[in-house]
Amino acid sequence: MGKKSAASTSKSKEKRQARKLEQRRIADGMTYVTLANKLTDLATYCKELLIYRNKELEVDMYIQKVTDLDKNILQWAIDLTERNMKKLYETCAWGWNKEKKVEEMTDDNAFYLIAKAKNGSPLAFSHFRFDLDFGEPVLYCYEVQVEAEGRRRGLGQRVLKILERLAHGTRMRYVRLTALTHNPAAAAFFRACGYNLDETSPPKEEAAHYEILSKATGDQAADDAQSCDLSDGIQAVHVEAQL
Ligand SMILES: CC(C)(COP(=O)(O)OP(=O)(O)OC[C@H]1O[C@@H](n2cnc3c(N)ncnc32)[C@H](O)[C@@H]1OP(=O)(O)O)[C@@H](O)C(=O)NCCC(=O)NCCS
Repeated sequence: MGKKSAASTSKSKEKRQARKLEQRRIADGMTYVTLANKLTDLATYCKELLIYRNKELEVDMYIQKVTDLDKNILQWAIDLTERNMKKLYETCAWGWNKEKKVEEMTDDNAFYLIAKAKNGSPLAFSHFRFDLDFGEPVLYCYEVQVEAEGRRRGLGQRVLKILERLAHGTRMRYVRLTALTHNPAAAAFFRACGYNLDETSPPKEEAAHYEILSKATGDQAADDAQSCDLSDGIQAVHVEAQL
């Protein structure tokens, strides 16, 4: 048995500290995810963004847990996903498995952002969840789907902006998503909205048909906060109180 040198003792102390810090970071992340999943009024984080008006669209949005969602709206979301995505899934390694998709879309942790036109018909939705992904608290965007007649009017972009606001408010570090590489419209859309290849994306040799994209919440949120009015300030205090 030999005696450890002072240098190696301090190295292992550093390693222990780094391990502890990492464990604390993950535990904190898990706490934020648990708290976010319990929130019942996510609209307080993004009230003014839920109304979307421009020359072509008058849209109102709301957010609900899947368990509270109207069954007809959930069925519409499933149908729209099938109409928009079935062919794309069929032409890649995943294939289209409706049962699996429905199971994913009806998971108890699923949140839905629903956008409805003035006449009441649904136009777009996002299915998202708060989750610990690779040890980091993230808002994972499972779907963003817009009806054909509602596209290229900025609605998809507004939906992502709302998710980004929610992610920041609940202390998620990223909005993260999985995108099919052979869906050029989606690729152009996510890039235009500031999403880039995430460090957790698999190398092309392992999986060429999809990639993980993300946007960090920090800087974007700081920009948003600067342009906030007084009511946002009150919301921010409310957010702190909720957490
Ligand atoms: C991808 C999708 C969500 C985009 O929604 P959208 O409401 O049409 O997008 P926006 O109008 O907000 O577009 C914002 C910007 O993204 C880019 N963009 C959006 N759609 C694009 C397309 N088809 N081709 C090229 N760029 C596109 C543009 O830069 C656009 O700005 P511009 O219209 O001023 O040029 C929508 O086309 C859709 O539902 N597609 C089918 C389902 C799908 O692929 N979902 C994504 C994977 S889950």
